[in-house]
Amino acid sequence: MKKQKIVTEFEIFESIEELSEEIQQLMHKAKLAREKAYAPYSNFLVGAAILLENNIIVCGSNQENSSYPSGLCAERTAIYAAGANYPNAKIKTIALTAGPRKTINTIPVPPCGACRQAIAEYEQKQDQPIEVYFMAKEGKVCRVSSLLHLLPLAFDKNFLK
Ligand code: THU
Repeated sequence: MKKQKIVTEFEIFESIEELSEEIQQLMHKAKLAREKAYAPYSNFLVGAAILLENNIIVCGSNQENSSYPSGLCAERTAIYAAGANYPNAKIKTIALTAGPRKTINTIPVPPCGACRQAIAEYEQKQDQPIEVYFMAKEGKVCRVSSLLHLLPLAFDKNFLK
């Protein structure tokens, strides 16, 4: 038996003001996208803004459904829109903000497992890491330089061979 250790790392910024101007703008777009969420069942609103290498920004928000599993998270709504509309543009950065409709949360909200898997697919497709910033409605912002810091031992297409 042999033990293996995987080290992942992330950065914590005290507030949005600590981010570069470009990322602050991106997070601002995510906040605007969040307000467009369709989340009448959970009342938990999530916004995503994706910065492409060609400087186009693609946004998304969670879209719920009365048949609950038919809804989709903000991250996948946005990344599938980016993939569908700009299939050859590499994704540089994803900014995420999430929180309940009426109350303020401050603990940064990371993407769910299914969204991590979806983002990992695009990272592999473009053979370039995607940095992810995530926060609550207010407060600290976390950053990973690659999605794989959030998804060690990821399943990918190589296992299909
Ligand atoms: N949600 C997202 O949009 N992204 C995540 O990463 C986690 C959860 C949405 C799905 C659902 O509409 C609501 O948040 C509550 O789970």
